[in-house]
Amino acid sequence: MPSRRLFPFLLLAPLLGCGRPTPGDPYDPAWRYPLRPDPVVLKAADTHPAGPILDGDRDGYLAGLPARGGRLLDPTALPADTRQRLTEVLDDLFGTPAEPKVAVGDPTQLAALALDADTLKASSGGYRMRCGTCHGLTGDGRGAAGLYLVPQPPRDFRHGQFKRAGGAGIASGKPRFDDLMRVLNEGVPGTMMTAFSPVPEATRRGLVGTVIHLSVRGEVEQELLKQAADPDESATDWAAEGKRLTMAVLRKWAAAQADGPPPIAVPDRPEAPTPEYHESLRRGFKLFATAGCLSCHEGYTRRNVYRSDPSGLPNGVRNLGHPERRWGPDGADTARQIRHGIAAANMPGSPGLSDAEVVDLVNFVRELAYPKRLPDDVRAAVEQ
Ligand code: HEC
Ligand code: HEC
Repeated sequence: MPSRRLFPFLLLAPLLGCGRPTPGDPYDPAWRYPLRPDPVVLKAADTHPAGPILDGDRDGYLAGLPARGGRLLDPTALPADTRQRLTEVLDDLFGTPAEPKVAVGDPTQLAALALDADTLKASSGGYRMRCGTCHGLTGDGRGAAGLYLVPQPPRDFRHGQFKRAGGAGIASGKPRFDDLMRVLNEGVPGTMMTAFSPVPEATRRGLVGTVIHLSVRGEVEQELLKQAADPDESATDWAAEGKRLTMAVLRKWAAAQADGPPPIAVPDRPEAPTPEYHESLRRGFKLFATAGCLSCHEGYTRRNVYRSDPSGLPNGVRNLGHPERRWGPDGADTARQIRHGIAAANMPGSPGLSDAEVVDLVNFVRELAYPKRLPDDVRAAVEQ
């Protein structure tokens, strides 16, 4: 029996023409990763259109961005010879879809991140079969189905930031290898990112390697494009610069594998709220306003409120009235997000709060989906 989380994907698969893919179906050896054609956001918009923002209209959103105070870099406007040169440099560093590689870096570190050429080559067909439909050939989140997903478009790996980063990279959104494995094991509840737990573990490790490969490639590409668009940089040795940037991004991935900050212990939810638990919910309710949460989580449980993520694209502020937590059901996961923020969603952390205050907030947030469990006075204020 496929797991319930896999079910929506199975429904989608035949629609998208990938009903009976051949396992390991390789890419055509002639294919190259194209140089990024979509705009790089240099400055995010100051305001967002009133929601809902249609995910299918990402290009429309970007086209309207300059009028709302944002700034874009159009890679297709770069001179043809520069584009050609950058494509060659990226091909040399990262290979092709059929023969992906990371050409620089310490082999032991590369192997630990499943970035060795053998693993990448063995996984590219699996990525094409299972992930590319949504996440796209280059990991841009613009696969055939990727533009039309609600409530969240697929993650664009090219920005190098992930929401479920729980290790030493928590503040910058760089995940541990195991954070990404967890995403594949559990999916992202409440989005179209399904769990791939039935896929054998070795295959999942390879798919995570492919995600990291595309992410490193995308980050280097984005930086090269920014430099190429800067007239002062026109004489740059692009091959040397590509290598330097790749080494720098790999160093960040390596550093992010270390342990993160210690977890905050959160007691289980009581079966029936006790008077002490009600007091904690009251404190959490007050903190939610004073700690600035309401400035984004407007109206506690409203939908269609957007903030820009670090890539400059609109990201829905989570409707906390939804019972499922996207980044893990444990109170400790929620506590970590409240203390340290979600870098990839531009949600700031609250380092000034004590552990007890964070626990009050966790309790309050997780009861928002069950308003009958809130004290009457809090419930009245929340439901206004
Ligand atoms: C049906 C579309 C779809 C498919 C197929 C799909 N994803 Fe996703 N993926 C998503 C969506 C939607 C998100 C959630 C993005 C968000 O909340 O920012 C996501 C998020 C992710 C994330 C980011 C998690 C984080 O911490 O930010 C990773 C990594 C990922 N997917 C990997 C994969 C891999 C690997 C495959 C193939 C085995 C795959 N996805 C298949 C739609 C899909
Ligand atoms: C600058 C805007 C902003 C502020 C301020 C903010 N958040 Fe968030 N929050 C977000 C966004 C955006 C997300 C969605 C993350 C995602 O895409 O998965 C989010 C997600 C969350 C989640 C995860 C929900 C889930 O289903 O996984 C929790 C819990 C949360 N916020 C609690 C808080 C609390 C408590 C505060 C105050 C201490 C706070 N937030 C302040 C923007 C903000």
